[in-house]
Amino acid sequence: MEYAAHTKQEHRMNGICPYFTRFPLRFPLDRIKSARPGQWLLDPFCGGGAALFAARLRGMGAVGIDANRAAAIVARAKLSRATPDAVISIAARILADTEPGPPPSGLFWRRAYTPETLEALCQCRAHFAHNTHNSPEESVLHALLLGMLHGPTRPDAPRYFSNHLPADFAPQPDNALAFWTQARRQPPRRNVLDMIQMRARYLLTKQPAAAPGAVYEADSRNITRTTQHPLFDWVITSPPYYGLNSYACDQWLRNWLAGGPPFPENDARGQISQQSAESYIADLAQTWRACAAACRPGARFVARIGNIPNITSPPAVELLKQSLRRAAIGWRIQTCRATRITAPRPATCPDFQPPAPWPENEIELYARFEP
Ligand SMILES: C[S@@+](CC[C@H](N)C(=O)[O-])C[C@H]1O[C@@H](n2cnc3c(N)ncnc32)[C@H](O)[C@@H]1O
Repeated sequence: MEYAAHTKQEHRMNGICPYFTRFPLRFPLDRIKSARPGQWLLDPFCGGGAALFAARLRGMGAVGIDANRAAAIVARAKLSRATPDAVISIAARILADTEPGPPPSGLFWRRAYTPETLEALCQCRAHFAHNTHNSPEESVLHALLLGMLHGPTRPDAPRYFSNHLPADFAPQPDNALAFWTQARRQPPRRNVLDMIQMRARYLLTKQPAAAPGAVYEADSRNITRTTQHPLFDWVITSPPYYGLNSYACDQWLRNWLAGGPPFPENDARGQISQQSAESYIADLAQTWRACAAACRPGARFVARIGNIPNITSPPAVELLKQSLRRAAIGWRIQTCRATRITAPRPATCPDFQPPAPWPENEIELYARFEP
């Protein structure tokens, strides 16, 4: 059955938190149409975890890896099942009992959130600093909070805690301040618990069964086969686009709520190299070798990649093909084709420049593991 274009209620949870360059759910869901329940899927660059959620909808197990903490938290929630009531009751407990850590200082923070909202966010940050997601409810609440942390302000249906900002990435603080000053925007008053309640009920009322699996905040070049998970039958992924190396930095505000520093850091640790096309190919090849060690012979591989405009290099799909050949471990390329499933342009605000121009010419590459 083809995937319906409109969002089904049980797919809503996939929208728990925006993520720059995420692919539409329909892409992985259609690619694994022929998968059998009980098979396993690996996404070594899982971002917000759409491929993992697709696996869950198909009754499969799934493992995701991402070097960016915010992505790993959101992807982890995609495998978890939690009722709205359970999530809301943890949020209520945190906001009633948790001692907030000291609020971050500086003009950006005073203009981004009211003091009351910032105090509530500091309570949540302090709670998650001592809590390692040992329940599905905690995982889902953490992702929900990251998703609501920043985005456009809409007086009719407030969905984000912040002053007007894009939802899929966080701009540099100076750019945000310049915009708020020029547009005379003040931080909005928000009832954090009320908003969590509304959002949790919208996203979580109907969900598929939880999927077996896990998400690791790690560098996928170093995946090692563990006996915890069976061998994988599918690798469905979207590697970092060549020319876009700021995943962690563009999610700096969410990474603050996840325990990181209160400012953007230019930290490419754990990320695939972008120094040159050559180092990018070598790094991707290392990931494909590591994936092979965790895959069953015959495993299918589908990767989606796009060109970032104005970057001088061979087309992205050529870099991807070279990396699979360089891996020299049995990934046999079968075909490539322009993707027919276009990503919805992020519902971001035109008031802020995105980290990179919107990728063009997205291609799907199909391969098979034939060691
Ligand atoms: C194109 S995005 C994936 C988006 C994802 N398909 C989605 O729907 O959200 C690429 C991801 O690769 C991650 N990444 C980059 N280098 C990595 C590495 N060495 N190991 C694991 N993840 C990495 C980035 O943090 C980023 O989230």
